[in-house]
Amino acid sequence: MEILPRLHFVVVSWWGTVILHCLVASVVHCVANSVPLVAQSVSNPSGICALLVLNRGYNCQEFKVPTTDGFWLGVQRISSRKFRASKGPAFLYHGLMQGGDIWVLNAPEESLGFLLVDNGYDVWLGSTRSSKFSYGHASFLRSDPEFWNWGWDDLVSEDLPSMLRFVHMQTSQLIYFVGYSQGTMTAFAAFSQSDVADLVKKAAMLSPIAYLNHVTSPVASIVSWLFLDKVLLLAGVHQFNISDAGGKQVINAVCSKLKRADCFSDLLSLVTGPNCCINKSLISYYNKFELQTTSMKNLAQMAQLLRTGRFGKYDYGWFRNLGHYGDFFPPSYQLRNIPGSLPIMLAHGGQDQLADEMDVRHLMLELPSVTQLLFVPHYAHGDFVLGFSARTLVYHKLLLFFAAT
Ligand SMILES: *[C@@H]1O[C@H](CO)[C@@H](O)[C@H](O)[C@H]1NC(C)=O
Ligand SMILES: *[C@@H]1O[C@H](CO)[C@@H](O)[C@H](O)[C@H]1NC(C)=O
Repeated sequence: MEILPRLHFVVVSWWGTVILHCLVASVVHCVANSVPLVAQSVSNPSGICALLVLNRGYNCQEFKVPTTDGFWLGVQRISSRKFRASKGPAFLYHGLMQGGDIWVLNAPEESLGFLLVDNGYDVWLGSTRSSKFSYGHASFLRSDPEFWNWGWDDLVSEDLPSMLRFVHMQTSQLIYFVGYSQGTMTAFAAFSQSDVADLVKKAAMLSPIAYLNHVTSPVASIVSWLFLDKVLLLAGVHQFNISDAGGKQVINAVCSKLKRADCFSDLLSLVTGPNCCINKSLISYYNKFELQTTSMKNLAQMAQLLRTGRFGKYDYGWFRNLGHYGDFFPPSYQLRNIPGSLPIMLAHGGQDQLADEMDVRHLMLELPSVTQLLFVPHYAHGDFVLGFSARTLVYHKLLLFFAAT
């Protein structure tokens, strides 16, 4: 008689906890959370392998790799059909509003992804959570605001470590890392923080970014100084898609402030600087692969870096910072904590309006070891990944840096 009501109470309260948890977190999320996610091999007719790799005579495997916060990232492994890779894994990480496709868009002899394969590397491409080449979230749809509740800090703590650990697990070898733009920021922060750096053999950083004190890009400046990011977040805009109505509104606002006739036609230059060496006859082909959607919170964090000049975590405002960080101010990432034993190459351009020369110099002073510095005076931001001359001016030097013992 005694035990039954107690058991009843226990069962009821257990269910109560589950239901309460499920109500708070949404039922789907709750159920999904109880099952650990494991990486899977996938076949995707609209993935990077099918669109850009297999049809150019290379082998390609596609994977979906989970993060601990429930996202499925897209990862591809590319190899030669003629020989086995002998030089270890190379992992390539793209920039803001891009996907892993950026490394294999140009002709095979001009794309870094293929060039590394041809030179004996076991090549892996990564794509960030919101890229269309990733695989969504275990519980949230792209239309849910929760899907977009992440900033660049989450790429540092989740996306990059998840992908590097996956590549390391598959290959049991240290990884040659290549980052571009936001991919370099993410790597600098991740390598400074945890055991992530221990998975990496060498790191080549193209258009490296950590400090944004001298950004001359008019578009980036207008967005950050108008606090457009904050305005949009307050207005309930969670994602930024340059092709949808919201994205067009932002561009209209920026272009009307800029008062430049070429604003709409040459947005790329206005954001990144005057790219010398992007083949104009390929622009419509590049446009087919379009810019990827990102979260407003991620853009807000970029704008925050511009406004504060600090290489720091997301600023939630004084009181919420206390809850997140135990301090009124967001902590900074400590570049000096990157192991001095990790060889780093920086490649930057004289016309780059995002990775400005002065900011790269500042970064260099903070890094414990810069093994190689490459400066291309006439290069702007976009030239490092799409430039037709990048093969001779940048990638050959990168290959030498990787090959040096
Ligand atoms: C961005 O918006 C365009 C136009 O509405 C749409 O076709 C495209 O699928 C959107 N991209 C993403 C990744 O949601
Ligand atoms: C630009 O692309 C076109 C079309 O693929 C090609 O014929 C031309 O040689 C390219 N130009 C340069 C400078 O690479």
